[in-house]
Amino acid sequence: GHDHRLARIASSIRVIPDFPKPGIMFQDITTLLLDTKAFKDTIDMFVERYRDKNISVVAGVEARGFIFGPPIALAIGAKFVPLRKPKKLPGEVISEEYSLEYGTDKMEMHVGAVEAGERALVIDDLIATGGTLAAAIKLLERVGVEVVECACVIELPELKGRERLGDKPLFVLVSAV
Ligand code: PRP
Repeated sequence: GHDHRLARIASSIRVIPDFPKPGIMFQDITTLLLDTKAFKDTIDMFVERYRDKNISVVAGVEARGFIFGPPIALAIGAKFVPLRKPKKLPGEVISEEYSLEYGTDKMEMHVGAVEAGERALVIDDLIATGGTLAAAIKLLERVGVEVVECACVIELPELKGRERLGDKPLFVLVSAV
């Protein structure tokens, strides 16, 4: 339903045209972080949704999932697990390759960070094509973790990223055009 907090959250996000390349309308969440009420409301809305869902893991996608994930994890009493770009994590890793517009990328997670049977929330700032979140889901499911839901601050619905997540539910606060 309608939540008065959403309008403020949406308007706190700055849109920068032609970044990082021509034709891209970059959704800049750094301005949301400067608005103390919008930032708190963002975290509160996720916490309200996930606090009673028996989630033991909040998995955050590098880089901006590292901003929103930890305060949510602390508030719901879950651990935070970073899903990182290749060669950043020092321990033994499990990795998942995924396709980009040109070429491929990899996402890595520490072995032993999660146990089979745990329930996870995957968090990122934005879903575009959905490739990143799809890789995160695969990575966690490969080690027996149940991904309860994915959550983002912003969705670009025109890119139909949701369809790449199969039946996995996706919760977003703001739709951008
Ligand atoms: C952006 C965004 C998501 C991803 C979404 O990250 O923060 O992680 O793209 O795109 P997708 O749905 O098409 O996969 P970016 O590639 O800018 O990396 P960064 O956060 O490390 O800068």
